[in-house]
Amino acid sequence: MLVPTTHPLQAGLTAESTLISAYRGIRPATTPVWFMRQAGRSLPEYRELRVGTEMLQACLTPELASEITLQPVRRHAVDAGIFFSDIVVPLKLVGVDVSIVPGRGPVMGKAVRTAADVAELVANDPAQLDSALGPIIDAVARTVAELGTTPLIGFAGAPFTLAAYLVEGGPSKDHIRARTMMHSDPESWAALMAWTAEITGRFLRAQVLAGASAAQLFDSWAGSLSPDDYARHVAPASARVLEFVRDLTFTLPDGTTEARVPVVHFGVGTGEILPQMRDVGADVVGIDYRTRLDEGIRRLGGNVPVQGNIDPAMLAAPWAVLEAHVREVHRRGLDAPAHVMNLGHGVPPETDPAVLTRVVELVHSL
Ligand code: CP3
Repeated sequence: MLVPTTHPLQAGLTAESTLISAYRGIRPATTPVWFMRQAGRSLPEYRELRVGTEMLQACLTPELASEITLQPVRRHAVDAGIFFSDIVVPLKLVGVDVSIVPGRGPVMGKAVRTAADVAELVANDPAQLDSALGPIIDAVARTVAELGTTPLIGFAGAPFTLAAYLVEGGPSKDHIRARTMMHSDPESWAALMAWTAEITGRFLRAQVLAGASAAQLFDSWAGSLSPDDYARHVAPASARVLEFVRDLTFTLPDGTTEARVPVVHFGVGTGEILPQMRDVGADVVGIDYRTRLDEGIRRLGGNVPVQGNIDPAMLAAPWAVLEAHVREVHRRGLDAPAHVMNLGHGVPPETDPAVLTRVVELVHSL
């Protein structure tokens, strides 16, 4: 299905941007760069805007969400905006008792631990999310109107990462309870994953239809899974999420070629499951800093565009050290059909924003 005619991809604004070209596997003249968690606590203008507003409240206030999305684009001249929201926003919108505790992350009012807990959760009809997505659609529309030729990336959390929060009740180290449930009660687990896929898939599709030019699925905690558990207990639900956007296409400015809206899939510590993460339906795979970029590219068969993987710890190192690292990541990325420079995970809150701006300038000069 073609995205609406007013969509930035279909209107020819972002279709040939460096980011979308790279995501489609066509290497642009300059390497595009953006940073996971570029919108947020590393920016003083963000901290100022957030005073007195809770995280999820900010996500659901379109003027705020849009302004926060635009801040790093203006400041750093990155090649993409990432929509300011959170992976738990769709849960909140269907009535799940969740809040984001500063310095900690998403915390549930009640953990989903038993078969009865799962049954109660999944009794909540995912379709009711459609009528609650207004603030998200509004925020995306406002944002792309300002971004012009800079593409916006929409995103969602993958079912496993969301389930890791739902089952544990909050952040956890190895997600033991979630990983136990998939073995001790595979039926409840499957029901939980299927429901979560319907929720998060709707959230992702709404962002793309409202104007996002690419979609990124974050399975941040998938690196805690064995390849067998990923294949059996997680991959089918992630594939289902991507079905929500895989039918969305746009016409290239040549007027004849139709292309799919690109999809990126990323997780932390997922070096052992990179091909599986592509196979659920991604065009581009994000690689974290624990896997050498050229090795990740090799594991993916050498024909998949990649995104990554500056070590966030390097952002606080002396410039000469960081510069050498960025140049090395860039060189390693040449083994792929195309490479989008990014971090191996999010921007640490204490990062000096001037360093990020300098990294963008460096990447564009390479
Ligand atoms: O700039 C961007 O990347 C866009 C916005 C964005 C946020 N969360 C805003 C946010 C994105 C893409 C996310 C995704 C997200 N949320 C993920 C996947 C990406 C990843 O980093 O692995 C995950 C696992 C979450 C869950 C979550 N929400 C965590 C772990 C935290 C951080 C907790 C903390 O305070 O250290 C949050 C809160 C959150 N999400 C903040 C922001 C800007 C911090 C809120 C604040 O200002 O206090």
